[in-house]
Amino acid sequence: MNTPRLDAAIAAMPKVELHMHLEGALEPELLFALAARNGVDIGYATEAELRGAYAFTDLQSFLDLYYAGLRVLRTERDFHEMTLAYLRRARQDNVVHAEVFVSPQAHTRRGIPFEAMFEGIAAALDEGARELGMTAGLILGFQRHLPEEDAFATLRAAERVGDRILGFGMGGAELGNPPSNFTRVFAAARAAGHRVVCHAGEEGPPAYVAEAVDLLKVDRVDHGVRSIEDPALVRRLAESGVPLTVCPLSNVALRVYDRMEDHPLALLLRAGVKVTVNSDDPPYFGGYMTANFLAVRAALALSGAEIRQLAANAVEASFVDAARRAALRAELAAFWDGRALA
Ligand code: HPA
Ligand code: ZN
Repeated sequence: MNTPRLDAAIAAMPKVELHMHLEGALEPELLFALAARNGVDIGYATEAELRGAYAFTDLQSFLDLYYAGLRVLRTERDFHEMTLAYLRRARQDNVVHAEVFVSPQAHTRRGIPFEAMFEGIAAALDEGARELGMTAGLILGFQRHLPEEDAFATLRAAERVGDRILGFGMGGAELGNPPSNFTRVFAAARAAGHRVVCHAGEEGPPAYVAEAVDLLKVDRVDHGVRSIEDPALVRRLAESGVPLTVCPLSNVALRVYDRMEDHPLALLLRAGVKVTVNSDDPPYFGGYMTANFLAVRAALALSGAEIRQLAANAVEASFVDAARRAALRAELAAFWDGRALA
C-alpha cells in the first residue's frame, strides 16, 4: 500500500483508545468557557496565550499546567461536558471504543465531591457513547506523588459506585515515586476484583516497569517505552503478552525522545511486545488518535501490516467483554480484509 493510501486507511480505521486522561482532553475553548462559568482565574488571558504555554521540558512541566487547568471543573455538568467533548472528538478519528482515565484525587482534594465527578463522567460515557455508536469505560487513576493512604481513600470511594468502573491506574510525577510504594493499594484493588494498570517507564527507568508487572501485577503498562533500555525486560514483556499503551506524541512533547524518529515503538513492536497507540492528553500534546498513528507511521516507516497489528493489539488489550471483543475484532478485520496490505 502506498503512503497516501496507508495514511487514508489510518484515518478511516476503526480504533480502540486505551490511554487518555479526560482532564487532559480539555481543549482551551472549553477550558475558558468553564472558567468563565465557574469564576475560576486560570492565569491566561486568551486561548492563544494558553496554547502558547504548551511547550514542555519534562513530565512535571506538563503536570503543572494539567493541574492548573483542571481547576475549572467544579460541577457534575462540567465533568459531563468535558467527557462528551472528548467522545465526539475521538469519534471523528473513528475511535469505536475508549477506556479513559480520570484523576479523582485531583478533584476531591479541591473539595469536589467524588459523586459529582463520577456521575457526570459515567453518564456522559454511557449516553454519549451510545449516541455516537461507540463504547467507553472509565479507569480511576491514583496519584503517585501523593501518599498511598490517599489512594486507599479513592478505592473506598469507588466502592460506592460498584462495578461501574473498568479498574484502577496510577499517574502523576513518576521519578522518585516507584510502583513499589503502592503495592498494598494495588493488591487491595485486585482483591476487590478490579483490573489494574500503571504508568511506568515513561520518565522512570525500566525497573519501574518490572515493578509494575511483578509487584502491582498490572494487566497493562501505560507508556512503558523505556523498557527498550533493558533487553531482558523486552523479552519478558513479549513472552508474557503484557500490553503497553504507548503515546507517541506525548513522549516527544515531554522530551522523553527528542524526535519521533528516536521513538522505540517500532523496535518494541518488532520484538513482539503487544504495543498499542494512544493519545494521552491530546490537546496538550498536539493530536488525537489519528495524528498519533500518522506520526509514527511517517517517522518509523511502519507498514500497513504493522498499523493493523497495533490496532488489533488494542482490541486484545482492552477490558471489554467477550461479545464486544468479538465485534471489535470483526470490525477491524472487515476494514482491512478489503485492502491489500503490501
Ligand atoms: N503521565 C503521568 N501522569 C499523567 C499523564 C502522563 O502522561 N497525563 C496525565 N497524568
Ligand atoms: Zn498518561
